Amino acid sequence: MSVAPRAGNGKVTVPDIVSRKSRLPAGTLAEPRITCLTAYDYPTARLLDEAEVDIVLVGDSLAMVVLGYENTLPVTMEEMLHHTRAVRRGAKRALVVADMPYGSFHTSIAESVANAVRFVKEAGAEAVKVEGGERRLELIARLVEAEIPVMAHIGLTPQSLHALGGFRVQGKTADAVEQLLRDARAVEAAGAFSVVLESIPRELAARITQELRIPTIGIGAGPECDGQVLVFHDMVGLTAGHTPKFARRYTNLGETIAAAVGEYCADVRAGRFPSDAESYHLPTEARPADRHARDTKPV
Ligand code: KIV
Repeated sequence: MSVAPRAGNGKVTVPDIVSRKSRLPAGTLAEPRITCLTAYDYPTARLLDEAEVDIVLVGDSLAMVVLGYENTLPVTMEEMLHHTRAVRRGAKRALVVADMPYGSFHTSIAESVANAVRFVKEAGAEAVKVEGGERRLELIARLVEAEIPVMAHIGLTPQSLHALGGFRVQGKTADAVEQLLRDARAVEAAGAFSVVLESIPRELAARITQELRIPTIGIGAGPECDGQVLVFHDMVGLTAGHTPKFARRYTNLGETIAAAVGEYCADVRAGRFPSDAESYHLPTEARPADRHARDTKPV
């Protein structure tokens, strides 16, 4: 059952995102840039929606930042559907995009389309994201034919971890630049409504942004992109260990949560929590001491 809210009243739609494409030369401030953040649960989606983020992406980064895996490869269709449903319930205004996990679009086109349909039909996603450039041409076209808007994703595609030999900045040689330009043109020609550019040189991202008619959403791709995306847990300080240099930390919820939990444990251990005001009380007539007094009162 689809639970996507109806367009109107400020609801962000795919055509809205397409219309936000900057038409001015790279480096010139035009339309306000498109904002995109990841979310994997209802309360985060609700907060992002209330803050008027344009796109909430249920990224397969779920595997790493929420499920604790070392990379994104193990996360399943069922897990992605479960989290997309929760996000859909929280995001009333933002466009909800579901990431197709590794293995869900790597066998046959028919199976890939069937999996994408599940995100729309069962979880209320309004678009899917697919990693890969030129080689996804046919798949993207078939998804679009099936009325499923596609956000493409090129550059550092984490699902290609083993093929790439690690999480590395892409597009640093002349051949790699040519390939990324071909990838960008291919996903646009196939009908993608936007494209994520991950971890590529700023100059290349600016060139792709200038050339394409669809919006580019950058992550580690410099400021000229039409929009930006970050992993929510990185920007609020909820990820441990190394974070890439582009992942600006706007707050440190990790420290805030650790301090709150420490205080709670100290209060419980010392008997300071809960207080009397935080406790429920029996009505006066049902209190054991009062009852005893009443029962033993001389008549
Ligand atoms: O899975 C994810 O969070 C992503 C974004 C970083 C673009 O693919």
